[in-house]
Amino acid sequence: MSRLDPAALKADFPIFKRLVRGKPLVYLDNAATSQKPRAVIDALVDFYENHNANVHRGVHTLSEEATAMVEAVRAKTAAFIGAPKPETVVFTRNATESINLVAYSWGRKFLKAGDEIVITEMEHHSNMVPWQLLAKEKGLTLKYVPVELDGTLDLDKVKKTLGPKTRLFAFTALSNALGTVNPVDQLVQAGRSVGAAVLVDACQWAPHRRLDVSSWGADFVAFSAHKMLGPTGIGVLWGREELLEAMDPFLGGGDMISRVTLEGATWNVLPYKFEAGTPNFADAVAFGPALDYLEKVGLDAIRAHEDALAAKAVALLEAEPVVRVLGPKDPAERSGVISFNLAGLHPHDVGTVFDLEGVAVRVGHHCCQPLMHRFQCGGTARASFYLYNDESDVEALGRALRRTIEFFKLGTKAGAR
Ligand code: ALA
Repeated sequence: MSRLDPAALKADFPIFKRLVRGKPLVYLDNAATSQKPRAVIDALVDFYENHNANVHRGVHTLSEEATAMVEAVRAKTAAFIGAPKPETVVFTRNATESINLVAYSWGRKFLKAGDEIVITEMEHHSNMVPWQLLAKEKGLTLKYVPVELDGTLDLDKVKKTLGPKTRLFAFTALSNALGTVNPVDQLVQAGRSVGAAVLVDACQWAPHRRLDVSSWGADFVAFSAHKMLGPTGIGVLWGREELLEAMDPFLGGGDMISRVTLEGATWNVLPYKFEAGTPNFADAVAFGPALDYLEKVGLDAIRAHEDALAAKAVALLEAEPVVRVLGPKDPAERSGVISFNLAGLHPHDVGTVFDLEGVAVRVGHHCCQPLMHRFQCGGTARASFYLYNDESDVEALGRALRRTIEFFKLGTKAGAR
């Protein structure tokens, strides 16, 4: 496995030239969205300057060029995730839309009152609320696998929650709020063994770890381009071909039809059946260089680099008695997402003082309110690493932490609350 050179990579990202509050930007909010390399920004500009035209709608040169560029990125995305057929890759707005598409088009058609859906307590709201809505509409039972206090899932409890009535098991591969790396293979296997369809939320996995939908063996996998160096406004839904074929459309409109009469309509082939209206073709094109960039650096090297930085950051945080780090203790079970709280402090106060040091972390419930409830906190501060972060960023995290502790006089009588 090659080692990556974060200094060289940082130079590819124009945003790192700017200062925040007079200090170099230390960007540790990668789980929310990643920064963009020059190649992605250039691809967007090049598309609008040289190729811009609507796709699938013209025989003129620009339209054919634009169509070919989007389809090339679809094929690249399929190769990136180990999907044998590009037509099983549906472009959406984001992973939230991908999951809602499954709830609407698969769930509404194939689930009936009394059926069960199983998800976990650690899901992002985007992999929870769509199922709550569907359960209410169709009279389904929604069951939750509990999260252990160390932030992991207990496989026995997973198996106990699944049962003969389970029609769908949906779970995150990697928790955006705790950093927990779930045993995807075993979870997919558990879902399959009761005959359930399996959906994996891979938003926090796809940017950081090799994703191979064929080896996972799930039925649906969702993720977003903007967390993996790509532009905002492009999500991916990969689905098993026979399920996508059997599903009804999600949105009705242009491009998703084969034939329309006054009496009704028939549907276009995959993936267009699920891509109604003018798609976000410019951002789809600019997703291509993001995937190229990740492949060039190498997913294994990215993962090893982030794991090393995260281990240092966890050690630094845990060395302070006022800090509580949430999530698994075993480094094999955690990723580059680190959630923490400082005794007696609201996470927003932590984030505000960190910002004074130029350090960007996310604070709040991370769209995981039930999970925060499980850990008896309203939210956390969250540092999340990516390929361009380096040891100087970990040191900056340490400086911001000490400044916060001093600012609020934590651990002293004056700071006691
Ligand atoms: N889901 C993103 C996050 O965890 C926005 O920050």
